[in-house]
Amino acid sequence: MKNLRSLFPYFTNNDGIYLDNAATNLKLQSVIAAEMEFMQKINANPHTADFDNAYIATKAIEECREKVAQFINCDSKDEIVFTSGTTHSLNQIAFGLKKHLKAGDNVVITTIEHASNLLPWMVLRDEIGFELRYAPLDADGLIMTERLTEVIDAKTAIFSFASCSNTMGAMNDVAAVSAAARAIKGEMLICIDAAQSIAHEKTDVKAWDVDLLAFSTHKMFGPFGLGVMWAKKAVLEMMDPLLYGGGNNHVITTDKYVLTNIPHKFEAGTPNASAIYAFNQVFAFFENEASLAEIRAQEHELKAYARELARNIHDTDIEVYNIENDSPIILFNIKNVPSQDFGTYLSSKWNISVRTGSHCAKMLCEFNGCKTTVRASFSFLNTKEELELLFKAIKKGKTEWLDAIL
Ligand code: ALA
Repeated sequence: MKNLRSLFPYFTNNDGIYLDNAATNLKLQSVIAAEMEFMQKINANPHTADFDNAYIATKAIEECREKVAQFINCDSKDEIVFTSGTTHSLNQIAFGLKKHLKAGDNVVITTIEHASNLLPWMVLRDEIGFELRYAPLDADGLIMTERLTEVIDAKTAIFSFASCSNTMGAMNDVAAVSAAARAIKGEMLICIDAAQSIAHEKTDVKAWDVDLLAFSTHKMFGPFGLGVMWAKKAVLEMMDPLLYGGGNNHVITTDKYVLTNIPHKFEAGTPNASAIYAFNQVFAFFENEASLAEIRAQEHELKAYARELARNIHDTDIEVYNIENDSPIILFNIKNVPSQDFGTYLSSKWNISVRTGSHCAKMLCEFNGCKTTVRASFSFLNTKEELELLFKAIKKGKTEWLDAIL
């Protein structure tokens, strides 16, 4: 794959090694320029297309909706709702479906979900009294399709899980999980938190046979503060919005109101117009510079190299939890070294940026027993040399970290 670093200005402004791509990946110059262009030249609030710039803004938003619809292979751009990010999308999904959930139902998730796919369901469980169940996971964190009969039954209303875990990097075969779930109960809503897979694996809501999807654009080289919620038209029609205000009302009189049609029913308030305008550039990047298939192949090659480096360490004090899977995440600990201290060491001594702690997946410890971890997450923009340096730092750091941080 050709070197595309020149398209990402982060590299001209930073010397270090960026290994926190799972938290947010690097931004395209074209995205940054477009966002600035919108604010400098267009600066119009869309939906009131009475002057040229407002028309440009509205058009760019609807074009972007169309591109997202094609990217995830859904039926219509009217099924694409812009939100502030995955967390907003998942909250909109859970609370938007509230009146369709009742005591006696069950909702199925997993213990390695990110907090945004845990807490909304927990809050609703406490309020409504349905049962929250956890699908069995194998040692790599993948959903065990053959054991879904233990949690899914006639009372299952929703099955919500991450296509890829933000810690273990376990990449579920979503189509297979969804088929296994539907073989037990056909009529249920299947919701996918696609935040960690959206820029790494193909998303195809039809092939996956799912009903709802959430992701953020800042994890796909795009702008911060923007996300997408997709749901099938029929599901959007039955959901209530989280927010009410300008943009999602059709009629308001003293004694009644009528909401607008989907997708605008879910988009009350001024949209993040500059971000949506800029997000269009991400699709140009996938079309002209690097396809998802190329990105995926490059990342798999890098992970294979990381696997080799990990195996060559031969040190039982260094525990890597997910080296077998192909996801661009290396989750590890060094025995008796607090993960946060090690992250500080990697930054201060080696100029390597990683994330440490629980990574907003606090129940991970119920899965693999380790409370906190160091997470090095790479992308197709990283190199084998950078991974070599990471493993060199891990090896040296086992004894050096304390001196370095004191
Ligand atoms: N969800 C983001 C992460 O995994 C923030 O780091």
